[in-house]
Amino acid sequence: MCGIIAYVGKQNSAPILLEGLKKLEYRGYDSAGISVCNRENIITVKSAGKVEELENKLGKRKISGTIGIAHTRWATHGKPNDINSHPHADCQENIHLVHNGIIENYQELKKFLQKKKHKFKSETDSEVLAHLIEEFGKNLGFKDAVLEALKMIRGTYGLAIISKKEQGKMLVARNGSPLVIGVGDGECVIASDVSALICHTDKVIYLEDGEVAEIDKDGYSITNIKNKKVNKEISKLTWNIEKSQKGGFPHFMLKEIFEQPEAIRNCLRGRIDKFLKDENFPVLGGLKPVEKKLRKINKIIIVACGTSYYSGLVGKYMFEEYAGISTEVEYASEFRYRKSVLCGRTAVIAISQSGETADTLAAIREAKSRGALTLGIVNVVGSSISRETDGGSYTLSGPEIGVASTKAFTSQITVLALWTMMFGRQRKMTFSATEKIAKELKKIPEMVEKIVKNNKDIKKIAKKYMTAENFLYMGRKYNYPIAMEGALKIKEISYIHAEGYPSGEMKHGPIALIDEDFPSIFICPKDSVYEKNISGIQEIKARGGKIIAVATEGDKNMKKIADDVIYIPKTLEMLTPMLAVVPLQMFAYYFGVLKGFNVDQPRNLAKSVTVE
Ligand code: F6R
Repeated sequence: MCGIIAYVGKQNSAPILLEGLKKLEYRGYDSAGISVCNRENIITVKSAGKVEELENKLGKRKISGTIGIAHTRWATHGKPNDINSHPHADCQENIHLVHNGIIENYQELKKFLQKKKHKFKSETDSEVLAHLIEEFGKNLGFKDAVLEALKMIRGTYGLAIISKKEQGKMLVARNGSPLVIGVGDGECVIASDVSALICHTDKVIYLEDGEVAEIDKDGYSITNIKNKKVNKEISKLTWNIEKSQKGGFPHFMLKEIFEQPEAIRNCLRGRIDKFLKDENFPVLGGLKPVEKKLRKINKIIIVACGTSYYSGLVGKYMFEEYAGISTEVEYASEFRYRKSVLCGRTAVIAISQSGETADTLAAIREAKSRGALTLGIVNVVGSSISRETDGGSYTLSGPEIGVASTKAFTSQITVLALWTMMFGRQRKMTFSATEKIAKELKKIPEMVEKIVKNNKDIKKIAKKYMTAENFLYMGRKYNYPIAMEGALKIKEISYIHAEGYPSGEMKHGPIALIDEDFPSIFICPKDSVYEKNISGIQEIKARGGKIIAVATEGDKNMKKIADDVIYIPKTLEMLTPMLAVVPLQMFAYYFGVLKGFNVDQPRNLAKSVTVE
């Protein structure tokens, strides 16, 4: 989704901004642009397409200036073309701004401004704001004009604004779209995402909704929208540059698939060893403040989107089986507008890699406003969901750059397993039952290592099925969500039509699709529903359908039934999703690579979906 990078300091800003834009590419975008204060002027260059095209357009033009703003746009209002790209300016080209988010009342505001003779160049909602600031600027200084304009806006924004009349100053503001100020030595780098600024500094200030920062070469001051001073703490980033680069892998997605053993180890570190010794609870510091309330909850609603939603489904099976807490999983986009039944004993859990997904954030706000306890399972430290929930746990899987989520998913399930132990221990779960899960969890990283080492075989299978235009993914109980996730991965990365189904539903419709050209991927480990799955596989075979099976090591019988088999180690049934998903991630990856697609930035997708 859209990305912002801005610079105020002593250095020439254009190269810093271009480099920052490249770091934001992974988020998915369709055009880019840059504005730099250059002596008395502000120079803007914009281009549809990749940052490379913007660089070509800039060519040998030496734009020098120590203040600048830049943006990668993911079109929402108006086509992805040069004109609709950011930065946008007012009529006199005094005000230049980049905007993430959506101004919901832009049409109303546009009409109001058109009556006052403002002329618009683009179809965007963002340009309206530049004109609104111009309008207020007729009687007010830069900052006051910005504050007045912001008061009139309905919607979300992350903004960086410069003015020709008050050069040397930048205003940045946030409401619903993340913005971070990186504080360096005599300079500030502002970005919508820390990965664009970690190469400059590890000291950051996270702006909260309704906050506005005024930045110049001497420093920054932060106020709320009513111009009342706000004191902010500087946080230290724990991510480093090395972690956000490819490290020898051809793609971030493959690197992140291979990083899963380490990510799971990081997620477990310090959380279960003490528990195994003192027979108490897993160590989950983020749940401490709400521990007493957690004992009383009798209903859980998990809200999430996409891949995170599927990890939530795995969580439902775990919570209900081991902790005995009734659990619903809902798409955050549905929850936020639906009147679900909440009470003081309901906990609403948001699961999100980015911690910024607009729908998930809105769902949590809705739950909070209705008195529910809110919890977060989030990867990005300091993100909005992590800050706005009453408690939670970080997944600690490090930066996930590939647009398709992989390591975040297995880490989310790790946290869900830890929470199952916690909720279970608070109720009737015995220490020995919990200990069994803890001990098995510790073995999972090694098991995932074994699966990823099998990458060549998985690549061969992907090659064999290259002509298939459809896939049916099936699994049952704990692996039904994995069938859904497997289908989502191949859709995203290979643009192949795939459907995920609980295997018991096959006979109620999808089996009609099956013929020799429509292969099925069956997740069929040796678990409590193994026999049921075997029947499903036989029914597909009887209709000429091809089967790729994900089976448990040692299941020789599967070789006789399925056309191709990918083996995973044996583990507890509740933890099989953490293993079964890995070959499916790799299958989708190789399928996409063999088809020649950009697997790290699939078409039409964005890493962090910060608009509805
Ligand atoms: C799939 C994918 C998306 C995200 C979804 C939620 O590979 O990446 O479906 O899972 O947009 O994102 P987060 O987890 O950041 O809330």
